[in-house]
Amino acid sequence: MNQQRLSERLERVAAHVPADARLADIGSDHGYLLVALMKRGVIAAAVAGEVALTPFHAAQRTVRENDLSQRISVRLANGLAAIEPADGITAISLCGMGGETIRDILDRDQARLSGEERLILQPNGGEQPLRLWLMDNGYRILAEEVLRENRFNYEIIVAERSGPVRYTAQELYFGPLQLQQRSPAFLAKWQRLLRLKQRTLSHFARARQAVPEEQVQELTQQVGWISELLAQAG
Ligand SMILES: C[S@@+](CC[C@H](N)C(=O)[O-])C[C@H]1O[C@@H](n2cnc3c(N)ncnc32)[C@H](O)[C@@H]1O
Repeated sequence: MNQQRLSERLERVAAHVPADARLADIGSDHGYLLVALMKRGVIAAAVAGEVALTPFHAAQRTVRENDLSQRISVRLANGLAAIEPADGITAISLCGMGGETIRDILDRDQARLSGEERLILQPNGGEQPLRLWLMDNGYRILAEEVLRENRFNYEIIVAERSGPVRYTAQELYFGPLQLQQRSPAFLAKWQRLLRLKQRTLSHFARARQAVPEEQVQELTQQVGWISELLAQAG
């Protein structure tokens, strides 16, 4: 992967960035997403935010080597602190981090959000708490994808603030749009997870030390939901 050839995961993220967006990519690492989108003429301006020095320097290098220093600002900052009101940001991407980390980044500096930005989120796990945050903060999920690359499942969640929105517990768990679409990648993900969760439940049953009842109940409920989903799909 480089700034010309993105991974399939980042290509799918890129597909959700609106034309002429002013994009802040928080946790940009090497900066490949922003440089690729700028070179393709998709985005009008960009901010790369990084909290760690090594990826910050890597992003600076990628931007410099592509002569884009005038159009992409690379900033060493924690989360949304990379964004200034003068940037006029219209879309924010947060990719390749746990869903809880993305949620915490969004929650910590809400004052930096105008509420007009499209959020393009690519959590690695922790999708349920992230969707819960979106719902609690009036964000409607506009698009969702599951994809598999290099033996990992990835999800993409695109949301915009819309006013009050309600999702059921199952919608928060599986994703409201994915529950409707039931793509092959989505069903394959849940088939794999069902096997894993069933195995964990049987380990719980044989564990010498008692597993907290709450944990067993939560897992049992998830196994029930997934079995129901797959039975309907089959
Ligand atoms: C696994 S990399 C993903 C890079 C890129 N977004 C992608 O999807 O390929 C996660 C990056 O997020 C950065 N990061 C983690 N927490 C952050 C925070 N609070 N603010 C800014 N960057 C953060 C890390 O330093 C790391 O470079």
